[in-house]
Amino acid sequence: MEKAYVIGIDIGTSGCKTLIIDQSGNTAVKSVEEYPLSTPRPGWSEQDPEHWWQAVKSTLGKALAGFDRPESIKGIGLSGQMHGLVAINKDGEVLRPAILWNDQRTEKQCREIHAAVGGIQGLLKLTNNRMLPGYTGGKILWVRDNEPQIYDKIHTILNPKDYIRYRLTGELATEVSDASGTGLFDVRKRDWSYTLLDQLHIPKEWLPRCYESPEISGQLKERLSSELELSKNLPVAGGGGDAVVQTTGTGLVKPGIVGTTIGTAGIVAMALDSCKENPEGKLQIFCNNTPGKWHTMGVTLAAGGSLRWIKDTLCASESAVAKRTGQDVYEILSEEASKAKPGSEGLFFLPYLIGERCPHADPHARGGFVGLTLRHDRKDILRSVFESVMYSLRDVVELIREMGYTVKQVRTSGGGALSPLWRQIQADVFDSQVITVSGSSEGGAYGAALVAGAGVGLWKNVEEAVEVLKAETRDDPIKENVHLYNRLFPIYRDFYSSLKDGFDRISEIYA
Ligand code: XUL
Repeated sequence: MEKAYVIGIDIGTSGCKTLIIDQSGNTAVKSVEEYPLSTPRPGWSEQDPEHWWQAVKSTLGKALAGFDRPESIKGIGLSGQMHGLVAINKDGEVLRPAILWNDQRTEKQCREIHAAVGGIQGLLKLTNNRMLPGYTGGKILWVRDNEPQIYDKIHTILNPKDYIRYRLTGELATEVSDASGTGLFDVRKRDWSYTLLDQLHIPKEWLPRCYESPEISGQLKERLSSELELSKNLPVAGGGGDAVVQTTGTGLVKPGIVGTTIGTAGIVAMALDSCKENPEGKLQIFCNNTPGKWHTMGVTLAAGGSLRWIKDTLCASESAVAKRTGQDVYEILSEEASKAKPGSEGLFFLPYLIGERCPHADPHARGGFVGLTLRHDRKDILRSVFESVMYSLRDVVELIREMGYTVKQVRTSGGGALSPLWRQIQADVFDSQVITVSGSSEGGAYGAALVAGAGVGLWKNVEEAVEVLKAETRDDPIKENVHLYNRLFPIYRDFYSSLKDGFDRISEIYA
């Protein structure tokens, strides 16, 4: 039988990745292209959707140039950075640069949204989530308050990958996982929260039609199919918001297996069989890519970002060695840190370098080192960063455990999963086996390809699609380290509450 293939496209924050996988889950070709991010003011983060589109066309072109069976491609799946605001007018033109997930400008509007529905508890009743500053909802009100001339022209609000869907197919549509991340979606009912939209005077017509992730949302435009020599009417599936679909792409379709993604941010996620309540709104509870399932996650903002910070500020010599020898600088840092003893002799790092999201939704939280003594040297300082980032992820794992789940296994992905030291620390800090699976380094593009493959019939459903994944590495917890980290973690956990008042006072001086 002829082999079938599917395309996955991810609109990331730093660039676009396009890949083609076969029905055994192997990546046949891939192409990546970066684009710029602009920070017009401190705390703002924007991108030009036209740059995404140019990168999609160019990576698609390059991937297909290295692939000789375009007629065997059965569909396209989309993934993208979540929570972004793309506002378009009635002619489909983009009205202003997209405001991204890591933009912090909407604290005031988020307060207004909570107040409009009776506080955080009122919003949790409608959407099962808080309105975090990164979410789309607050950004719509920010445009209303600050750019009324643009607000008046809005016809449709799209998330980043859904703008690309519009350019590929002409359809204005989204799917349940990305819609959840707007903060305007009733995840219990898997539909927009019309009550919330009414309260905020946001016209419901602005929100696009919402599909389940594997459903077909449109077909590739005829002109594009002939330009790219792809089959006519190629189906484009719903796809998924990156943080959700990359979790699906590591095979997380059942509760009990937790996924961690260590990129700039750190994500701890798990699939849920039913829509669990989110009593304090500490976790994000979104619709899953598998119809009838949900997804919970907590995001810590500076995971790999903490390591990058210490590399950039204190590790010039390691960076110089890396440049000279061609060795990866993070590998050198990892080797140095593994010379220190587990526990870093009582040294802790607080990774709140850009505030925090989970479990402390606090833009004022700050980083720090605690427990320094004259004995500590460079290797301990480095190791404390590796360890403390894992404590910050364990803070989220504990919230999942508090929901009554036993964590049987952790599947890790993202750049941090390439570090053997970080994998072992994860196993020890979580007291759980840690594995990596095939495809997990490809992120959202791979998950989107699997979801689309389920939608076009390469696999029966998403559960069957993820059966193609193969385990690649396995790290088991080391008993004595587990014992030590179980004593150190509660100490780390208490630092935030001891220091919170100080963080708030610093932010009054340095707003
Ligand atoms: C998820 C989140 C990030 C973005 C960027 O809630 O904020 O993962 O999707 O990739």
